[in-house]
Amino acid sequence: MIIAFVNQKGGTGKSTSAIHLCYWLKERGSVLLIDADAQNSSSVWAETLQMPFHIISDPEDIFDNLPSLANEYDTVVVDGPGGISEVSKSILSRCDIALVPCQPSGLDLRSSNKTLRFIRQAQELRQGLPKAFLYLNRATKGTILLRESQQVLAELDIPTLSTVIYQRQCLADAPGQNITAFQMSGAMAASSASEFDSLFTEVFSHAGIEMKPSKKKTKSSKPTKSRAKSKSQSSKSKSSKSKAS
Ligand SMILES: Nc1ncnc2c1ncn2[C@@H]1O[C@H](COP(=O)(O)OP(=O)(O)OP(=O)(O)O)[C@@H](O)[C@H]1O
Ligand SMILES: [Mg+2]
Repeated sequence: MIIAFVNQKGGTGKSTSAIHLCYWLKERGSVLLIDADAQNSSSVWAETLQMPFHIISDPEDIFDNLPSLANEYDTVVVDGPGGISEVSKSILSRCDIALVPCQPSGLDLRSSNKTLRFIRQAQELRQGLPKAFLYLNRATKGTILLRESQQVLAELDIPTLSTVIYQRQCLADAPGQNITAFQMSGAMAASSASEFDSLFTEVFSHAGIEMKPSKKKTKSSKPTKSRAKSKSQSSKSKSSKSKAS
């Protein structure tokens, strides 16, 4: 399965979310990160976390290589770039699930329109694939902006996940500390970890995919129905890191 974070608007949280999803999935099976952004921010972070990754930022290479990589791992997580249309189109022609982080601001939501258009075009060509979900990241609790953004997103034909990832300093600090919120201590990190856990559980539940339970409990993960069902773990998990040209 290939899950991609896409939004041509920069800085909405694609890389942060992709790394957190990789960490969350690593506890449940084998996962490979594809860093499709020439800035390489997620691959540097993945390397320090000893997660397997490839850097592939050429659209043709993405199109050609994603299917075979998806056969080698339980899940391939693609961190899409800001700005570059061809790469986003390639990713959307291959991924099973597209996740679109949006910042709760009118300007940011408008800038995400092009990405939504690409998603609809891919869905038209691929009989409904990728399944796509929007979600709000970097939100501030209780603000009018958050409420208004939720109303705007609710009117779109692409569904919005109910989990919101709030703006927290621990998430801004995480890449510099080579860590994820799942590994950090403190109440704020526990809240961020719990939000990511809820977000990813929601994604798999909406996509109709039953997830294996976590091999080890993260500091703040809550048990959920979908994760509690399965009892066996994959033996395919790979710990070696890898890098491709
Ligand atoms: N929920 C959050 N709370 C606090 N800071 C956040 C949050 N999400 C992301 N950030 C910070 O915002 C910045 C942009 O996040 P990130 O790099 O994940 O976005 P991106 O969509 O991958 O950006 P780009 O399009 O440039 O690749 C980073 O400095 C990151 O640490
Ligand atoms: Mg990024």
